[in-house]
Parts: sequence; structure tokens; C-alpha cells
Amino acid sequence: MKRKLLSMLLAATMVATMLVGCGSGSASESASASAGSGKIGVAMPTKDLQRWNQDGSNMEAQLKEAGYEVDLQYASNDIATQVSQIENMINSGCQLLVIASIDGDSLGTVLDQAKEKNIPVIAYDRLIMNSDAVSYYATFDNYMVGTKQGEYIKEKLDLENAAGPFNIEIVTGDPGDNNARYFYGGAMDVLKPYIDEGKLVVKSGQIDFETVATANWSTETAQSRMDAIISANYADGTKLDAVLCSNDSTALGVTNSLEANYTGEWPIITGQDCDIANVKNMIAGKQSMSIFKDTRTLASKVVEMVDAIMKGGEAPVNDKETYDNGTGVIPSYLCEPVFADANNYKELLVDSGYYTEADLQ
Ligand code: BGC
Repeated sequence: MKRKLLSMLLAATMVATMLVGCGSGSASESASASAGSGKIGVAMPTKDLQRWNQDGSNMEAQLKEAGYEVDLQYASNDIATQVSQIENMINSGCQLLVIASIDGDSLGTVLDQAKEKNIPVIAYDRLIMNSDAVSYYATFDNYMVGTKQGEYIKEKLDLENAAGPFNIEIVTGDPGDNNARYFYGGAMDVLKPYIDEGKLVVKSGQIDFETVATANWSTETAQSRMDAIISANYADGTKLDAVLCSNDSTALGVTNSLEANYTGEWPIITGQDCDIANVKNMIAGKQSMSIFKDTRTLASKVVEMVDAIMKGGEAPVNDKETYDNGTGVIPSYLCEPVFADANNYKELLVDSGYYTEADLQ
């Protein structure tokens, strides 16, 4: 039934695309109110992580389909490169910027130039801090990502009822990424009470955000930090029960380290993004869960926002209180993140067309 519905939807989408593609006036007018026009700059942080490639290509495709020209750039996680890419976008006639920042605090100066030229800015996925040039923010509910990871550990260890104590280690993301603090904050709001009462023990003693942060969300950095933690605390056979990892790139580093250095019973490992390598690890029982953030959903919401602004209107938002970037609250659209594990990945990722079965083999 579901498959039938899906194939009907796909067929309808194909027909709609063909009609728009053929450019027949009345057909395209009936598909969308009016075609957009103008150039949109899309600045993405890096190609190293699968999710940003998907974010970028989904947005590019959907913006083009809506009638816009697109300047899509990736900055190899290098702040100076991203600043100069944005500068080029401003000087080459982009009329709106969509930016997933590398470091949320480093774009103030270049965005002053955007503001001078009245170029609206949408912060994509990561909030851009301390700049009043930011018009809107579109993201997944970052705090909810963290609470879902924390709740998962709480339930799997049955922290309410079990006596414990259980050993846990914590690996979060880049300190320059505002999201990392929300992921960490959401998870710690669930787990910290158990750490305080001694039911959860962090043997390494590494708990505060700055200590458990991972520069650039690097897999290698997470791996070498975990190597050191294992050799100092778990090499003697001490059981590690859980590792809170804020995302999949760090979870991959932790998993690699455990495979090389840890001989005990496999711990619970959390993640986020449903990157292909991590979904494979979930299927193989090496990672317990991930958070699925469907980049198609975020991309289409942002295209809707771009389209509304370009046509002189206001972008749709659903949150006007959570994200203060230091210059005031930025009106935001928060998409809902979804829990994923080995039991539901097929329905979530394969049936929805996000990945093929072959991608995950
Ligand atoms: C994103 C995550 C991603 C991380 C590393 C965060 O800002 O929200 O989805 O895993 O950056 O790129």
C-alpha cells in the first residue's frame, strides 16, 4: 500500500517536473504561483561530510527548479576560504545568501557588506553569531537532537530502575559550531542528574563542554581522544557502558578506536546524520542509533523561505524565541529530527528514497 502510494507520488512528481522542465507557460504557472528569478549564493562548510554534500545538492536542485540561478560553494572547513567565497557571492550579484557557517563567530565583517547591499542572509543549519545581518535561521531542532540521544542512553541502561553504576564517556562537536552546545546541552539535561548522583560515572573525568569538544567534528580527533581514554581507563577490562557521541563523524572515530583497543562488551554509541558508514555500522551492531535529519526537508523549507523573501514577503517561521545570536532572537524554522536505528532504518532511509539498498551494502 505504502509502496503504491510512493510510486504514485513519484509518478506525479515526474510529470510535474517534466511540465515545468518543458517550460510551457500555463503548466508551470499551475505548478507554482510564479517562477522565481535572481541569483542565490549557497555557502556550505565542507565536502568531507556526506550530509553537507546532500544539503548542497538538494538545495541547488530545488532552487533551480523554482527558477533561481545558484552559486554553490564548499569551503573545505577553512574559515578564510568561506569568508572569501561569501565576499565573491556579494560582489557577483547574489541577491540572497544561504550560509552553513564553519565558525559561527567569524562572519560578522563579511556580512556587514551583505547588509550594506541589502542582501538578506539565511543561516542554514548552524546559527551565525553576533551579526545583525542574519535575517532568518533554518535548522533541525538541535536541542531535541541532544535530548533524543540522552533519552536513548537513559532508556537502554534503564537508569530510572537499574542500580548501576554505569561507565560513560562523552564526545561532542566543534566549539565554534553553536549547534554543538545545543546537542551537548540537550543530552546533558537528561544525563547530568545521573552523573551527579553517581549512577553514571565518567571515568576519564572529562565532562565539561570545552573538554569533550571535537575540533572540526573530526573523526580522527575523536578517535585519538578515545584511544587515550581507553588506554588510561578501560585497558584493564573495565567495562564501558555507553559513549554519548553528538554526531556520526565523531561516532565513527569512537567506533574505530574501540575496535582497535577495547576488548570488553560493546557499549551503547549514539550518533546523528545517518551517514552511510554509520548506517552500515548500525546494521552491523557497532553503533546503536543515529538521528535522521532529512536534508530534503530542510532544503525545501529553505527554498520556500528564499522564494518568499525574493518575492518581497516574509519567510515562514515556527520559532521566535530560542535562537538569540547575540544581536537578538533570529526568527527560525525548526524541522523535527527523527530517531533511527537498525530496526527502522529501512522504512526511514530506503523506502523514502534517501538511500538505495545498494548504498548500504
Ligand atoms: C550539524 C550536524 C553535523 C555537524 C558536523 C552540525 O552543525 O548540525 O548535522 O553532523 O555539524 O558537520
